[in-house]
Amino acid sequence: MNILVTGGTGFIGSHTCVELLNNGHQVVILDNLYNSNIHVLERIGKLTGVTPKFYETDIRDKEGLKKVFEENRFDACIHFAGLKAVGESVSKPLFYYQNNIEGSLNLYECLIAYGVKNIVFSSSATVYGDNFEAPFKEEYGRGTTTNPYGSTKLMNEIIIEDLCKANEGMSAVLLRYFNPIGAHESGLLGEVPNGIPNNLVPYIARVAEGKLDRLNVFGDDYDTVDGTGVRDYIHVVDLARAHVKAVEYADKHTGCEVINVGSGKGYSVLEVLHAYEKACGKTLPYVVAPRRPGDIATSYAATDKAKELLGFETEYDIEKMCADSYHFSVMNPNGIE
Ligand code: NAD
Ligand code: UD1
Repeated sequence: MNILVTGGTGFIGSHTCVELLNNGHQVVILDNLYNSNIHVLERIGKLTGVTPKFYETDIRDKEGLKKVFEENRFDACIHFAGLKAVGESVSKPLFYYQNNIEGSLNLYECLIAYGVKNIVFSSSATVYGDNFEAPFKEEYGRGTTTNPYGSTKLMNEIIIEDLCKANEGMSAVLLRYFNPIGAHESGLLGEVPNGIPNNLVPYIARVAEGKLDRLNVFGDDYDTVDGTGVRDYIHVVDLARAHVKAVEYADKHTGCEVINVGSGKGYSVLEVLHAYEKACGKTLPYVVAPRRPGDIATSYAATDKAKELLGFETEYDIEKMCADSYHFSVMNPNGIE
């Protein structure tokens, strides 16, 4: 298939492009490089032998988008482009709605106008809110989001479902990611957070590099194995493989499916910290800090639907996730240059 990958130079998008290319698909990347780097293209080229065609285009730019669709014929679109910082979304809601909603609407308009029937969308476990108990099942539906970022994911899910109802032959897979971490084992691709990381593993990576003093563990009085928050971490390469299966599934079906992508296992903050210590061979300092507002105690995925519909299961464990994350940070002390 010839696949348009929006946000394809980003963390998950870049790994997905590698898996798509290695599975015989063609990709065209569209990204405004707001949170990624043009050198990612060369690295994808190194890993696959193919440097994808690239458009430096913003999904908010209707004319720019139109040009991309005029110049290519796509069988499918995997839509990663978007902003993802929860805290920033609370202080800049308009920026998030303009990017993640208005930008996405422009993209969907083009998909329909140019007859691109298949779409895979990056949703998030955040749409379960704090309304349900883990394991989160797709059939639970959507909960109440606690921040504009989460609301943009929930709204996109609804918009795409409506588009599938209104446009015959349209096919969508809404992938609800749990907590993607890790990096490509080559050390060539990985996550490069802007400024001080908000998410756990990027923060631990900075502590391991000696760039931050210690980890703040947000709460140790949750009802969990050791009192710290439990999450379902998934290796980014496993997540990338799920996208290959999802886009191939979309091509063979019509309608809209919501599918969780997680390992189905939960790890506490301290368990992740200890796995990272093992990976980097150092003891990493931490202090217990107050709970972070909006956090829930436990989140992990029900994985049956991914297995049934996509034949997808994760391969990599938490040790491998931490080892690859550490390897990437050692190989790229200044990010992807
Ligand atoms: P990322 O920031 O690394 O990648 C997103 C890419 O989109 C970046 O390259 C950025 O430059 C690009 N982009 C942003 N706004 C754009 C715009 N208006 N026009 C064109 N390009 C634009 O993030 P990621 O971790 O790879 O996440 C990819 C997608 O998955 C996002 O939609 C994110 O919300 C979603 N998601 C991520 C996580 C996670 O933990 N990383 C969890 C759930 C969902
Ligand atoms: C967060 C977002 C979620 C988003 C996801 C992926 C919040 C409330 N939720 O999920 O909407 O989809 O990232 O981008 O921001 N922790 C620490 N110390 C730290 C950082 C994290 O103890 O410095 C703990 C957290 O309390 C949590 C766990 O580590 O228990 C994982 O946190 P994080 O990596 O931020 O992911 P989520 O909170 O699951």
